[in-house]
Formats: sequence, C-alpha cells, structure tokens
Amino acid sequence: MDNKFYITTPLYYVNASPHIGHSYTTIAADCLARYMRKVLGEKNVWLLTGTDEHGQKIQRAAQDAGLNPQDFSDKMVLKFKQLWKDLNISYNDFIRTTEKRHIDIVKRVLEILYQKGDIYQAQYKGWYCTPCETFWTETQTQDQNCPDCKRPLEHITETNYFFKLSKYQNWLIDYINNNPHFIRPEIRRREVLSFLELNELTDLCISRPKERLSWGIPLPFSKNHVNYVWFDALVNYISAVGEFDSKGEYKSKWWPADVHLIGKDILRQHAIYWPIILKALNIESPKTIFAHGWWLIGESKMSKSRGNVVSPVEMVNKFGIDVYRYFLLRDVPFGLDGTFSEEAIIKRFNSDLANDLGNLVYRTLTMIEKYFQGIIPDKGKLDQQGHKIEDEINSLGAHIAANLEGFIGYNFSASLECIWELINMANKYIEDTKPWNLAKENKTEELRSFIRLLVDVIREVADQIYPFMPQTAESIKDQLGKDKIKKGKPLFPRI
Ligand code: MSP
Repeated sequence: MDNKFYITTPLYYVNASPHIGHSYTTIAADCLARYMRKVLGEKNVWLLTGTDEHGQKIQRAAQDAGLNPQDFSDKMVLKFKQLWKDLNISYNDFIRTTEKRHIDIVKRVLEILYQKGDIYQAQYKGWYCTPCETFWTETQTQDQNCPDCKRPLEHITETNYFFKLSKYQNWLIDYINNNPHFIRPEIRRREVLSFLELNELTDLCISRPKERLSWGIPLPFSKNHVNYVWFDALVNYISAVGEFDSKGEYKSKWWPADVHLIGKDILRQHAIYWPIILKALNIESPKTIFAHGWWLIGESKMSKSRGNVVSPVEMVNKFGIDVYRYFLLRDVPFGLDGTFSEEAIIKRFNSDLANDLGNLVYRTLTMIEKYFQGIIPDKGKLDQQGHKIEDEINSLGAHIAANLEGFIGYNFSASLECIWELINMANKYIEDTKPWNLAKENKTEELRSFIRLLVDVIREVADQIYPFMPQTAESIKDQLGKDKIKKGKPLFPRI
C-alpha cells in the first residue's frame, strides 16, 4: 500500500504501572499518528501499541503479587489501557504478547528459522543477568556485574537454542551504510555502526530452559524450552499486522513499518536483533527506527528500578492532559535527554500557554464581543504587518511538514516553535495596532480587517496544534464558532 503510515511504540512490560517515560513514547507516537492522519487520511495510518507480558520480570512480579502470571498481566494491562485513554491516545490496535494471534506467529517464525538452519542447539556457558535477561561474554562483564544495570551476574551452564546473528553482521553493516535514515537520530546510527564495526556479534540465545523460566512461548522444536522474551516481543510488529502464507512468505498491508519509536535504552535489540531476524525471514526492514532520549529526575533516568518514577496520572490531574502533552513534546528536542520537574511544567504553562496562546484567544474573542456583538467580521484590507502575518499563516503548514515528516522529521519541539512564532506575531500585532484607539477613532474598516486576521491566525493555530493538543484545538474551535463566537473561560488561567 502506497501512502500509508504504520507507526509503533515499544510493548511495555507489565511488571509495574506505566510512568512518565512510557507515556512519552506513546504521546509522541500519538501526535505523529494524528498528524499523519491529517496528511494521508484516517484510513491510511495505523498506530500500534501494546504490552510485553512474558519473561522473568513478569513471572517475578506476579509471584510477588501472589498471582499467576496470566492473571497478573490481565490486571496490569488495564492500567496501561486506562492511561492511554486518560492521555487521549488514538491507537488503532493494542497487542498483548499473550494473545493467540501473536503466539501463533512467533511459533511460525521460530519454525521457519529452525528449518532454515538459522536457529541451532548448543551448550551455553557464561554470564547471565536475570533482571535484564541478557547473556554477557567474559569481556563484557564488569567485575562479574552486568555492564548495563551493574547488578551481579550469575554463571550458568545449560543447553539452549541460538539464532545466527553473526551470519548477518556484514549484511547489517552494509544495510545501515546504504540506508542513512534507517537508524535515527544520527548519533544513534553512528553508535550502532561503530558497535558493529568494532565487535564481532555472538549468536543470540533465544531460549530459556523451562526449569528456570516457564512463563514464555514454548519452542515448537523443544519441549524443554520457552522463547527468550525479547525475541518474542519484537515479533509483535509483524504479528499484529500480517500473516505467513503456506510457503512461509509474510503478507501484510501495513508492513514495512514507517517508524518504530523507541527509547535509546532498547536500541540494540531494535537496530541489531530485529533487522537480522527480519532478514533471515526474508522480510523488509522497517523504514526508520527512531530512538528518543530519557526523562531524568535530577541526573538519573526515571525508572522503576531506581525508584524515582513520577505518575503521569498525577501530572494530568494537576495540569490537564494537553498541558502535559505539550510539555513533553515542547520542552526537549526529540532524541535528547530532558529533566522532568513540576516547576518546568509550570514555567512552560505560564509563558507559552497562559501568556501566549491563551491570551491571544481570550483577547480576540473579547474584542469580537465588544466591537462586533460576537459576530466574526469579514476579511478586509491589510497593512504591511498584517500581510506578513497572512504569509505566515499560509506557510505554517509547510514549516511543520518540514519538521515532522520525512526521514529527517520527528522534530516535535521545532514544530511547536513554528506555531508559537505565529502566535507571538499576532500578539505583537495587537500591541502595535492598539485596537482600542481604532475603536475610539471610529476606524471600523481597519478594526474589522485587523480582528478578522486574528481570527484567521487562531483558526490556523487550532488546526496545527490538533495533533499535539487535541482537546485544546477542539475547544478553541468551539469558542470561535463559524460566524458567531461562543466565548468560554480562559483556556489556561495562570498558575
Ligand atoms: N518490553 C520492552 C520493549 C519491547 S519492544 C518490542 C521494554 N519495555 S519497558 O516497559 O521497559 O519500556 C521501555 C520503553 O519505555 C523505552 O524504550 C522508552 O520508550 C520508554 N521509557 C522508559 N523509561 C524512560 C525514561 N525515563 N525516559 C523516556 N522514555 C523511557 O523495554
């Protein structure tokens, strides 16, 4: 299908409630999906999210909660679904890795790769990090601690199944070199490339012995093993949108994904394991994998294991959905790390939302009420400053497209800056024009065209902020009406 846009979020682990970090990726994905629906039409965009429910982490969390893993997951998944509702997330599909449609495809994938000889059995001896569910070589370990999470590693010996990552290493290097937009932003592309150029990939252990971990998808070719949770989870991106035919060919109306949005913590799995799994299956790679940065609390990453998580629900109750969405997308350029704090939200709120946007809308509606009995005036002749603003209205869409669309896109904060440029021009126009003087001097024609231009600015702004702040866009449109305004309360009363 041409002109389609398939966008995914990571599948979030259900071991704990979602925090701000999880909501970030999902809000960015929602914003992009809403934007692309405007560009391509509702039917041509597919936003997939979901939950990752197998593996040690979940089995442990379920045990701690005194539940079996399935019941535990069934309970936890509701928290994610509720949060996405609270955050106005317009997903098209929500996949759980415990669903039959997913399990069937994972088994099929395993069978195909086993038949092909890309999965083989071998004895594994080495270091294992249980919390990260990752094997490490002797050279990668740091004093017998995990190089990622720094916790102690276990030394283990067992029979396992391996996927031939190493066979495809050179292919992947070439692929990344030939497709500069495959891994974004550039800093992450270079990180993956230099990792591949400096290290020889070891084959990926894709099984766990049942005696150690029973909560996983059984391997079709061994009754003693379940599938490694990362292998299982990555397959969701194809299991949710397509099927294998009898010849083992994958068919999907949506694949390849246009973008997998992820955090930089899961880059290796997405940029190395995943394209190689796909290549081995003879399936195209996703067009882009975009890894954004982390929300930090002080100096450290917000995460459950560090115990510094902030609840998105609490922030939404305090500030409102759109303020929260605006803050996350505006405060930090997508790709970089950002520091989260309530003070930072309040600062943005008072300056950008209350002072700039809220004020523009309120002042304009008040003038329409006062000078034109609530009826929106017709267009008229503009002065030089007015013409400049009109040009800006006409080119705003193109500026946003340049920042959001295409391979270089995903620049949410720059897109919002463009919108705010227009808002600020309009506010300055009010101050420069001094409409109260026009009214006093009975310059009705000037006043008419001046106010009408402000209405046009606000309409354009409402249109363009819709993907970022859907409720605010609606409420501005409601207050403006078609011909007669329905002025409500100020959108963002100062905190
Ligand atoms: N289940 C795996 C992903 C499998 S995808 C096939 C996983 N889940 S997770 O629950 O740990 O979520 C990870 C994702 O949440 C990150 O990649 C990122 O998108 C988001 N974030 C989690 N903490 C974050 C921050 N502190 N800051 C920003 N986003 C982070 O990994």
